[in-house]
Amino acid sequence: MMKLDKKLLISLCAATLLSFGVSGCMDGASPAGSAAKTPSIDGGVMYPVQNGMTGPYHVNEKAHSGAIKFGRTPTEEEYEEWNSDVMPDGTGLPEGQGTAEEGEEVYESKCVMCHGDFGSGGGGYPALAKGNAYELQKTLTNQRLKPDTDGPVRVFGTYWPQASTLWWYIKDAMPHPMTDSLSDDEVYALVAYILNVNEMEIDGVEVDEEYVLDREKFLKIKMPNRDGFEPKIDGPNGPENVRKYFSNPDNFGAQKVKPSERCMTNCQEPTAKVVYIQNGGISDFHPPLSAERSLPKEDNSAASSFDVKQAYADNCAMCHDTGAAPAPGDKAAWKPLIAQGMDTLYKNGIEGTDLGMPPMGGASMTKKQFKSVVDYIVSTVK
Ligand code: HEC
Ligand code: HEC
Repeated sequence: MMKLDKKLLISLCAATLLSFGVSGCMDGASPAGSAAKTPSIDGGVMYPVQNGMTGPYHVNEKAHSGAIKFGRTPTEEEYEEWNSDVMPDGTGLPEGQGTAEEGEEVYESKCVMCHGDFGSGGGGYPALAKGNAYELQKTLTNQRLKPDTDGPVRVFGTYWPQASTLWWYIKDAMPHPMTDSLSDDEVYALVAYILNVNEMEIDGVEVDEEYVLDREKFLKIKMPNRDGFEPKIDGPNGPENVRKYFSNPDNFGAQKVKPSERCMTNCQEPTAKVVYIQNGGISDFHPPLSAERSLPKEDNSAASSFDVKQAYADNCAMCHDTGAAPAPGDKAAWKPLIAQGMDTLYKNGIEGTDLGMPPMGGASMTKKQFKSVVDYIVSTVK
């Protein structure tokens, strides 16, 4: 790892950067050749590194070189479950369908308590719609000059540049905290409903209650604010665009010449100001990780360390052993459930039921592990 005499921190970590999803500072004015060789952490911004530390990120050099062996390599199964992102070009988007009407039903049972009637938000929970997205997109340039003037409305319909984020967000993160419990069809239905309350259209057709949203139609959604973001961070030129944009302080409002003094005119520095941290710079804003390995030696891959009976005792017994739910060994109770077929049994367990079985029993385990617990229960009544 290269050594720098001085650490760089650019004083223009404007809060606005965060809202673009680029956290950190620009490097536009850093000494030529130095910052350029340091690792790019978020694809757009280079951070100088010294002793394995960057400002403001921490780089664990040993983890990169493979010297520390914390944890274990994720299993294929875990990769598969985590790798659920949906891209604007449709990568990762499954087939499925749903109507706004069906979406409303799911919304009323699983979302309304937080996101309010028709997605109106409230109580600290974000609104998902505020009315006609095409009209309200225009408010994004509003400045709130006085308390009673209308500021920008930022909700999915008016603000988000891509609909794929919505699909993925709902599938992966909602309903809080029962994440990943919705079927693909339910997600399509919810997206249709959210498009409906945002008064949006697809290909010139209004998304009304009966509108059947499927994969093909989903990929035709054009978000009102799709061109509203700069710099363009997508594609191969993304990092270069970001650097160019943030190297011009006029694009985001520059630092006051003398921050301590009140100022009415010529308050901004014409160029980005570079702040050098003196006296050796930051050295301990992240304590170094211990390289000691205290894990047991045996093979600790997911499959072999998973104890089915223990998992049952920890996650299921509080209902299934207390009379609140069918107990292992209770043939009469399990027979009709098993008669549905194992696939249905797994599915009902994973997605939860209206009769009181929470999705995956509320347990934090992979679907494969959950299924093995179900297999264990079934084995007690065979
Ligand atoms: C227990 C409360 C709760 C429930 C229930 C819930 N959400 Fe959320 N939702 C949240 C919170 C909190 C956030 C903000 C998370 C954040 O910004 O980090 C959020 C954010 C969202 C967002 C992103 C909004 C934005 O503009 O940033 C969407 C979309 C969303 N939820 C959809 C849903 C849907 C659809 C359901 C029902 C299936 C649902 N939520 C159920 C609490 C909830
Ligand atoms: C909060 C209570 C609760 C917890 C915790 C819980 N269950 Fe259940 N479960 C129920 C109830 C109530 C039923 C019966 C209603 C039903 O069949 O949906 C049920 C039913 C089931 C069914 C049958 C679903 C069907 O209808 O086809 C399976 C399978 C199941 N549970 C597995 C598990 C497993 C495995 C765990 C632990 C990982 C677990 N449950 C944890 C309450 C719970």
